[in-house]
This record gives sequence, structure tokens and C-alpha cells, in this order.
Amino acid sequence: MLKRRHSDAAVVRISIDGEQVEARAGESVAAAVLAHTEGATRTTPLSDAPRAPYCMMGVCFECLMEIDGVANRQACMIRVADGMSVKRQQGARSVEGRE
Ligand code: FES
Repeated sequence: MLKRRHSDAAVVRISIDGEQVEARAGESVAAAVLAHTEGATRTTPLSDAPRAPYCMMGVCFECLMEIDGVANRQACMIRVADGMSVKRQQGARSVEGRE
């Protein structure tokens, strides 16, 4: 878990895997996850190894999460919003319309 520097930004409430947490307006979902959890955003399809945000700028795709019901979103590229629901992705992803 990372410690935040002091911020005067407004507080928004989001849920991470069902747990209600406070985040700072303007920060990314990945930053909020790093501030409130051990950092894992997903697990790998083959070994279920935990993965965490790495580049924080949209390049590595290690931060894929389900955000407001939409899977495979880059948590580092999306800003938190009040009432947002964020879930870790576990293992292989599914693509709607395919089995
Ligand atoms: S942390 Fe690298 S793409 Fe999000």
C-alpha cells in the first residue's frame, strides 16, 4: 500500500471489490487501488499470479480492471468518479458474445 502525499483535492467514494474507500478527485483508478490495497489489479490467466500497475501511463496493460461493469479497462488511464465500482480481474478474460 502506498502512502499519499497531502492533498486538498475533493474526496470521492468508490468501491474496490465491494469495499467502500475514499479516493481523491483527479487521481487515477490505479492510484486509488495502490493507495488502498496491496496493489494487485488482476491475476494472470495461466498461473493466477497477481499483477499490479507498472508504467502508470497506458503502455504496459498490467492494470486491466473491471470498471463500472466494463472489463479490460486500463485503470491508470481512468480517473476516479464518485460511486464508481472497481473490481480486480481474475484469470482469463471473457469476451461478450464468445464462449
Ligand atoms: S499501469 Fe501500465 S498501462 Fe496502466
